[in-house]
Amino acid sequence: MAKVQKIKGFADLFPEEAAKYTFMEACAREIFSRYGFGELRTPILEKTELFQKSIGEDTDVVGKEMFTFPDRKDRSLTMRPEATAGVVRAFIESKTYQPGNISKFFTFGPMFRYERPQKGRQRQFHQINAECFGADEPQADAELILMLTAFLRRIGLRDLTVELNSLGCHECRPAYKQALVDYYHAQDKAKFCEDCQRRMETNPLRVLDCKVPTCKELVKDAPVITDHLCPDCRAHFADVRAVLDGAGVAYVLNPRLVRGLDYYVRTCFEVTSNDIGAQTSVAGGGRYDGLIRSLDGPDCPGTGFACGMERLALLLGDVAPEAPDFYLAVVAPEAANEAMLFAQALRNKGLRGEVSFAGGSMKSRMRAANKSGAGTCLILGEAELADRTVTVKDMAGNREQETLDRALYLASL
Ligand code: HAM
Repeated sequence: MAKVQKIKGFADLFPEEAAKYTFMEACAREIFSRYGFGELRTPILEKTELFQKSIGEDTDVVGKEMFTFPDRKDRSLTMRPEATAGVVRAFIESKTYQPGNISKFFTFGPMFRYERPQKGRQRQFHQINAECFGADEPQADAELILMLTAFLRRIGLRDLTVELNSLGCHECRPAYKQALVDYYHAQDKAKFCEDCQRRMETNPLRVLDCKVPTCKELVKDAPVITDHLCPDCRAHFADVRAVLDGAGVAYVLNPRLVRGLDYYVRTCFEVTSNDIGAQTSVAGGGRYDGLIRSLDGPDCPGTGFACGMERLALLLGDVAPEAPDFYLAVVAPEAANEAMLFAQALRNKGLRGEVSFAGGSMKSRMRAANKSGAGTCLILGEAELADRTVTVKDMAGNREQETLDRALYLASL
């Protein structure tokens, strides 16, 4: 019988790789707390309609990439493809919103999209996600970008580009959409992919995000949103940029940036890297003022971002694991139980280390002690067992060793 293997696009993260994720999460906690964000954990499974109503039926994420299945009572459930919808749902359900209040949440965890796996693209991937509810001011957008770039600096990443755009609002976007439709109609419609032929009527902005090369070519000269912004959106966008300029955050204006999800208005941004292959976007986000309302919540503005941890991990160097304090070598089988109890006492004192089990030669144990990187090798053999002693070998300095009373040694730590 064939052995059971993991699902395509799903990965196991062994300690060396997992250490990078733990490091990123620790840095995010440290940086995000400076900005007043608190942790929110939401379920991985949600009702399918949550994503249909928020991300948009015309998006690739909802149209092609969701892990959706019926539960035992035939209700359609979906493994979350992103965090924002669930965070918004939780916020609405908590009924904590008061006009004028700001709520800030971050969340970490696995997301699921049925995409073709490749470098930096998995079907289960992890995001670090941040959302701010209640502020329509441009400073809230700028603050998120400042927080995101502070986090990326904190994990040691420098060579990244922030791309910035404004997508307009319900006032100015209709005219822009019309300009796009006029532009598409002036092209040879048959040259667009089937999805885009439909989208150009139902959701003209989506066509700009199509990955099909011929569509990309056809929209090269399409009108840009920044030429169609209303005065309010223009002023909003100018303030976002002014704060970023003041803080010395470099960014590139990209009037073609529309993002892959339908809920954005006004500010949107992406952080990209040229060092991780075809999937260049390491983080993305923006403002989504109508989203909470559209999910039957209060009329509350929102803005946020998410980082892709797999892509950040590709850019991180190895995160050095902390060396253990001791390696306890058992060199006589009869000392094995006592060794385990001694190691337990050491661990209760807060020390980190490993115990060899009884099998193997002295030489192989010394090799293992060296390999472990421990500062101290402790040896427990027949003589030490009888005398209630332990031989302590300094692995870091002069490699000298002495035999000490076990209880006194423990008391000295
Ligand atoms: P998104 O751009 O769809 O935005 O995803 C954010 C990041 O998740 C991407 O920049 C990328 O790094 C990572 N990512 C997406 N798909 C995959 C994949 N298949 N494999 C590996 N990494 C991936 C959102 O999800 C929005 N919810 C962000 C947001 C929060 N906007 C407002 N608040």
